[in-house]
Amino acid sequence: MSSKRIPMIAGNWKMHMTVAAGREFLNALEASLSVPDAVEVALFPAYTAIYPLRQVAKQVRLGAQNMHAETEGAFTGEVSAPMLRELVDLVLVGHSERRHIFGEDDDLLNRKTKRALEHGLQPVLCVGETLKERDAGATLERINAQIEGGFAGIDKQAAQKIIVAYEPVWAIGTGRTATPQQAQEVHAAIRSILEARVPDPGRIRILYGGSVKPENSADLLSQPDIDGALVGGASLRVEPFSAIIHSAIRLNPA
Ligand code: PGA
Repeated sequence: MSSKRIPMIAGNWKMHMTVAAGREFLNALEASLSVPDAVEVALFPAYTAIYPLRQVAKQVRLGAQNMHAETEGAFTGEVSAPMLRELVDLVLVGHSERRHIFGEDDDLLNRKTKRALEHGLQPVLCVGETLKERDAGATLERINAQIEGGFAGIDKQAAQKIIVAYEPVWAIGTGRTATPQQAQEVHAAIRSILEARVPDPGRIRILYGGSVKPENSADLLSQPDIDGALVGGASLRVEPFSAIIHSAIRLNPA
């Protein structure tokens, strides 16, 4: 972490947590925490839980896990950026499960990123290589394509607002985490790719995701280019999520 960037610890609940369970979680989390200005905490609940959580969230930023690329129209079952902007100011774009299960490609994710920015949502653009790509030595090539694709055609000032999340596909939900050195190498590469894309790459936040837990969060977060964590499984219970947040607070006291 660097003092130039406020670290963010974000929980991606995926398709977990009813409204009742989400509210109980958030009340307990807020009661267990005093988040200093030097750290940001965010949660990405399912669409159904966003509004009820909005009513109780005090220290936690809220975001959506996905959105449609169009603003409105005949797209049954979809949710658009202006609808989300009434409730949240963050949105995940291109989470690995969207890319791999739902077939979202860089072109679609670029359109979503642009649309999110246009409506005042801060996109968290997710990138990451598969195990096959890593084993073939193609990690940085893949990351480069996803970053270039995601940022394509976006005005430099607007692009400065994007948060990037590096989540190696082989580390998501597998219990297998990238080592701090592996993660740092990719984060530094992302920051250098961004030199051509934003006015100040030193201020872009790059989160790491993939089996982050209390046992490994401090080592990951101490790397110079890791500016926070996107947490799946360990964000579903207050105790481990709160422990990860506390590891960020310890490394970045107010
Ligand atoms: P995980 O998920 O922490 O359960 O590996 C991370 C993510 O998908 O964002």
